[in-house]
Amino acid sequence: SETDLHTAYFPGQQELAPVLMLHGTGGDESDLLPLATFLLPQHPTFGIRGRITEGAGARRYFIRNRDGSFDLTSISQEADWLWQSVATVADEHLLDPQRLIVLGFSNGANIAAYSLLHKQPPFKTAILLHPMLIEEQPTLPDLTGVAVFASFGDLDPIVKESNFDQLITALKTAGADVTVFKNHQSHRPSQAELAAAKQWLSVH
Ligand code: MLT
Repeated sequence: SETDLHTAYFPGQQELAPVLMLHGTGGDESDLLPLATFLLPQHPTFGIRGRITEGAGARRYFIRNRDGSFDLTSISQEADWLWQSVATVADEHLLDPQRLIVLGFSNGANIAAYSLLHKQPPFKTAILLHPMLIEEQPTLPDLTGVAVFASFGDLDPIVKESNFDQLITALKTAGADVTVFKNHQSHRPSQAELAAAKQWLSVH
């Protein structure tokens, strides 16, 4: 319901593309702000809090089962809710959803990637930090015109390289322009990947 909607909005130069922050498990609607500010200073920026809670109250964008598998009904419903919520917030602040740059980390990157493959979301540019493929998609959408920067760390205990590679293959096969950044690191944003993402943004 509407009451589940927790957003944070940070105004910027209205002519610049708006940035949508999607947090990792246990984050919130504003915890990626330092990253967004580093990558895209001056851009209007907003975050939407995932409305699923796990364990002692960690926020997420969809249900993860006790065995670590994902609830595919939940991610489908929550993705619909998320894009409806994005439309609401964009409307309120006169932001163009078609120009959105999505900045997602971990669970937030996962719902963004899932949305590209399953939901025809409005955005065309995404920085996905440590994403994974949640559900294989036999019929791929047409992602021509979509640009994605995706990072992976070889010390990541959560994302398997084979799964990350499957996600990249799916996005590319669908026609997206994908830039991969693999690094010797774990499952959290690093200076190296943020520098690479910033460089990538300067040409996308
Ligand atoms: C997920 O649940 O989406 C992934 O396991 C990443 C995370 O821990 O959030």
